[in-house]
Amino acid sequence: MTAPAQRVVELRDLITRHSEAYFVHDDPVLPDADYDALVGELRELERAHPDLADERSNRVGAPASTVFSPVRHGEAMLSLDNVFDEEELRAWSDRVLKGLDSSVPLAFSVEPKIDGLALSITYIDGELIQAATRGDGRVGEDVTDNVRTIANVPHQLIGARGSFQIRGEVFIAKADFETLNETQREKGAKIFANPRNAAAGSLRQKDSSVSASRPLSFLAYQLVDLDATLAFTTHRATLDQLSAWGFLVAPETLIVSGIGDMIARSSWFEEHRHDLTYDIDGTVVKLDDLTARRALGSTSRAPRWAIARKFAPEERTTRLLSIEVSIGRTGRATPYAVLEPVLVAGSRVAMATLHNEDQVREKDVRPGDLVIVRKAGDVIPEVVGAVVGDEKRSASWRFPATCPDCGGELRRFDDQSDTYCVNPACPAQQMQKIAHFASRGALDIEGLGEQRVAQLLQEGLIGDVADLFSLSSEPLARLEGFGELSATALVAAITAAKSAPLSRMLVGLGIRHVGPVAARELARRFVTYDALAQAHLEDLEVVEGIGPVIAQSVYEYARDDESRQRMALMAAAGVELSEPDVASTLAATLSGRAVVVTGAVPGYSRDEATAAIVARGGTSPGSVSAKTYCVVVGEAPGASKVTKARDVGVPMISDTAFEELLETGTWSATLE
Ligand code: IVH
Repeated sequence: MTAPAQRVVELRDLITRHSEAYFVHDDPVLPDADYDALVGELRELERAHPDLADERSNRVGAPASTVFSPVRHGEAMLSLDNVFDEEELRAWSDRVLKGLDSSVPLAFSVEPKIDGLALSITYIDGELIQAATRGDGRVGEDVTDNVRTIANVPHQLIGARGSFQIRGEVFIAKADFETLNETQREKGAKIFANPRNAAAGSLRQKDSSVSASRPLSFLAYQLVDLDATLAFTTHRATLDQLSAWGFLVAPETLIVSGIGDMIARSSWFEEHRHDLTYDIDGTVVKLDDLTARRALGSTSRAPRWAIARKFAPEERTTRLLSIEVSIGRTGRATPYAVLEPVLVAGSRVAMATLHNEDQVREKDVRPGDLVIVRKAGDVIPEVVGAVVGDEKRSASWRFPATCPDCGGELRRFDDQSDTYCVNPACPAQQMQKIAHFASRGALDIEGLGEQRVAQLLQEGLIGDVADLFSLSSEPLARLEGFGELSATALVAAITAAKSAPLSRMLVGLGIRHVGPVAARELARRFVTYDALAQAHLEDLEVVEGIGPVIAQSVYEYARDDESRQRMALMAAAGVELSEPDVASTLAATLSGRAVVVTGAVPGYSRDEATAAIVARGGTSPGSVSAKTYCVVVGEAPGASKVTKARDVGVPMISDTAFEELLETGTWSATLE
């Protein structure tokens, strides 16, 4: 065999194995991006060597399994061709334009490409008759019983006649996925790698009561009219009808006119992919005009009138070089992976967290393994699992018995998943405590990162956060890496931090269980640290949002000798330790009212929007109920909140009315 012929055989074999793992066993061992690369390479070779081409390379998915009865699709369930950047997307739309010989700008539907699994549901005269997975595109699996358990799939469509299929994606929303894995963990059951795997595993269950117990959702994006009784002429009209029948239709879908707007909207999805309530791996662009679609037609694999634009992959494989342990400010020892650097979602990843001992065991990753790394948005990179082949692996990793920094004992307490370095004098812990104090979430002291803190500790210039406030620039300027300028700048930044609000100070001190929300409540209630420190346990417990655990922790902190000394030193150094009284100058326009914000409100971060509501006496809960006063709908709103608001009849207002709401406590216009 020639080299290309050999590679073609090799690629076909790899692709078959991986697509079986994905479609049949719901347990992919390779990230999509790596799989797509194999398919791309095969297509390229077949194009260059037509004698090696084989129609089977174009098949969609994998043959149906034997667990479910086969269902022949009335109309084939095609796949989509992929493009990977704007230029390729433009090239596709140019081809479409040429193919249609159109002189007017084309209307495109730009939709999220949901990362779930395709489903086709047959309705006859409005009644749900059957539901099938895609299978190989011609024959799928009968999963009717399981689909009937999906809460948002209507069983009856009011006023519908004739037979048709509704096609869409079965998926698990991100928040539901977290809850599901939490439950699985509690039960000691299998943890799902990602929402897609969880959705696939949950839909393809022999016992439909298992499917019923899983938080599956269905999102509709296509209607296949089997007997041509429905006379839709545009995709837009179809989606409206689907919505009217009660199907979930992607609220982010936009019909745009012309290539420029189409490209802009697909870039919007890339920018906002992490704000959506479900995982997407790209956008789908479709022609809106159904007559034009028919004119373009399809290949045996995919329609010519639609294209998937895939985003930069968030999962890649790389080699795990070693597993190390780092010590945090509370002494927690966190294992992390040292990786052969790899580009994930546009940034270079060389380290990834492994969370704790159980997670390493659960994922069974070992030094030397090929592992899947995920980096989604701002989230820190994470190792998902190992791609295990036939090669010999190293022994399972064992948690070290001693602290890598101080050599002291590492201990895991009976009922906890975390392991701790129990030496309070451990230098790593000291460094982390001070670095946390100076970090952005706390006092935000510029120029005081981990390395600087480590240096100051080592030089004996500081031993505790309180020492920062008596630092002067002369000794600093003499240190390696410092100059006069950077020394003065650091001292100035520390001096500025003396008047930081008490709430930030409380976060910085790292009092157990006190996060930013509790810190704000405490600071608002007591205004000065002195008042807080003198509070009785009962005074603490009655503060809004402060439970007995936080109250106890604060109470003990205030009475601890070491912290008393620290606070006294800080006060002596001129640290203000008080909360500016902002709230009382604002009118309580939202007193006792619950305002839910969904999506981004221009000009406000999520925290700022909440703070603005709270400062006017309101609350801003994370979910909508009948008690909600109103819902502010920003950019890329959450579908579930909007649906819920509509269901329970809570007024929705536009983000442009947010200022009006804050000022007056009411609004002059609502959204439909
Ligand atoms: S349309 C004939 N629209 O992506 C066109 N597909 O890679 C049928 N998908 O098989 C598909 N979101 O499982 C369409 N908004 C969307 C989609 C979508 C996700 C999936 C679907 C399809 C696969 C192709």
